Amino acid sequence: MRILITGGAGYIGSHAVRCLCAQGHHVTVVDHLENGHLGALPRGVALHRIDVRETSKLEKILADGTIDAVMHFAALISVDESVAAPERYLENNLGGTQSLVRALAAAGVRRAVFSSTAAVYGESATVPIDENSPIAPANPYGESKAAAEHALREWAEASPDRALAILRYFNVAGAAEDGSLGEHHDPETHLIPNALRAALNGEPLEIFGDDYPTPDGTCVRDYIHVEDLVEAHSLVLDNLEDAECRVYNLGIGRGFSVREVLQSAEAVTGQGIPAILGPRRAGDVPELRSDPSRIEREMGWRARHRNLRPMVESAWRWLQAHPNGYDTPGD
Ligand code: UFG
Repeated sequence: MRILITGGAGYIGSHAVRCLCAQGHHVTVVDHLENGHLGALPRGVALHRIDVRETSKLEKILADGTIDAVMHFAALISVDESVAAPERYLENNLGGTQSLVRALAAAGVRRAVFSSTAAVYGESATVPIDENSPIAPANPYGESKAAAEHALREWAEASPDRALAILRYFNVAGAAEDGSLGEHHDPETHLIPNALRAALNGEPLEIFGDDYPTPDGTCVRDYIHVEDLVEAHSLVLDNLEDAECRVYNLGIGRGFSVREVLQSAEAVTGQGIPAILGPRRAGDVPELRSDPSRIEREMGWRARHRNLRPMVESAWRWLQAHPNGYDTPGD
């Protein structure tokens, strides 16, 4: 297939690019490289350095009618930043998706896979969370993704030869097994890379709150290995039929608290990691844990990595080899 990947130079997008190229697909990337990294792209992949909100440029890229499908990763991703600047999240995440949808419609592209998030569920009443749980985002990031899901659904439902997969990620973690691709956000806000960086440089990890209604008082999350996650994208795309709109949770169905992640990082790095207790972080919910059984039932797929440790190990390999991410000399 010929696949357009928005945000293909980002953390998850770059793993998807590599996975799809290895499967023999022809990949074209759209990424403005404000958050993505050139070093995350394999040589020879076509890169269009534009913002997805530049609809007319997107339309030109799609104009020859050869793209079969799009995977849409390009987005702002930080929960706490979204609380501070909600309008940026709507502009980028909803605005970017609306722009993409216009370009897809103009070019006659018929397949889309959307990178959505468990943040659309918010503080779900029942954990584990299945795909029928109410959409009730607890922060502007989740709201922007829920709105983008809606825009893509409208696109898909407007013509019977279109199909859409909405993939709601729980907490994506880890790095390519060979340590060559990994997570590089600036600033880094995610727990696992922050814990590992604390091991590397001795700066304490801040734990955002320990007074949540969870077993040890810290937030519980469901971590999924990034390589498993992108494999699911490819499988779902291969199996999409006309007029379908499929929604799948991507998680492993197990929850780990912030303190458990910290312990795992200590075991993997073989050192004590300094930690300080801080206040709750705005927009956080106590527990996000998936019921991932729908994709297993319908597609026969489940994540290969069933435990936290291999995710932390691969993230650690990446960080040791790339202490400054893609800016590490030699990359
Ligand atoms: N945390 C800390 N200290 C840190 C970083 C994080 O205590 O330095 C805590 C957070 O408060 C949270 C947990 O660790 O309780 C996980 O935080 P992350 O920032 O790693 O991940 P989030 O759960 O906030 O968000 C991630 C993705 C979202 C996605 C969500 C879905 O970034 O895009 O998972 O589960 F929506």
